[in-house]
Amino acid sequence: MDILLKSESELEKMRVAGRLAAKVLEMIGPYVQPGVSTLELDEIMQHYIEDEEHAISACLNYHGYPKCTCISINEEVCHGIPSPSRRLRKGDIVNIDVTVIKDRYHGDTSKMFIVGHETTPLCKKLCQCSQESLYAAIRAVGPGKNLTIVGETISPIAKKYGFSIVRDYCGHGIGTGFHEDPQVLHYRNEMSVILEPGMTFTIEPMINAGTHKCTVNHKNGWTVTTKDKMPSAQYEHTIAITADGVEVLTLRDEEDFPRILKTV
Ligand code: MF3
Ligand code: CO
Ligand code: CO
Repeated sequence: MDILLKSESELEKMRVAGRLAAKVLEMIGPYVQPGVSTLELDEIMQHYIEDEEHAISACLNYHGYPKCTCISINEEVCHGIPSPSRRLRKGDIVNIDVTVIKDRYHGDTSKMFIVGHETTPLCKKLCQCSQESLYAAIRAVGPGKNLTIVGETISPIAKKYGFSIVRDYCGHGIGTGFHEDPQVLHYRNEMSVILEPGMTFTIEPMINAGTHKCTVNHKNGWTVTTKDKMPSAQYEHTIAITADGVEVLTLRDEEDFPRILKTV
């Protein structure tokens, strides 16, 4: 494992990239309405990233990925490909995952949207569980702590709700690389890494209402869905380990969560 520690000047670039990724999610909110197609949303975000932010999407052409963002609806776990024929309906729960590159550095973040601001109690709880899992894991990490604390923290939260944690996909180190070491597992595990200031990685728990098992769409090779077609939810932030805690690089203005936390 080769974990790259970022210098203060690199962290400054990560802050810029993280802020730009967060702004895409802030910007797209009002457009997430019943009737809009996921391609329309993708095109609005692509225009914003390229022409307003003067950044680029890290996803476009990544291992052949065809679009700018990932938009995953209901039983789709991640990597939903924006499409003109996929229109949002009232009550859908939708994850929009945005990764931008600015000045060579990546910012990666996602959140759930509830279409029409109303959904089933199950879907509401699922969104709540994934955000609560992300926030608790961010509060748990810090210098000198073991990365296994992420899975240890999320596990009892998912259990409390009666939901499962996806095992096939994980968070990741991030910097000039989109997916750097280490892997960040969201379930209980023994991938021991002692955290140090300058480490930057994502935490992005995918929580399923039913089984944790997933399948990849064999027609497009990308879109991951739950095996039992029950819904799934995910929130993601890019964070940096600091001298005495953690900094959230992709925080949105709307969030009731601190950007800088002292955790040790
Ligand atoms: N943004 C995703 C992540 O959180 C990765 C998407 S890769 C893509 O790691 F190719 F599907 F866009
Ligand atoms: Co990520
Ligand atoms: Co992402």
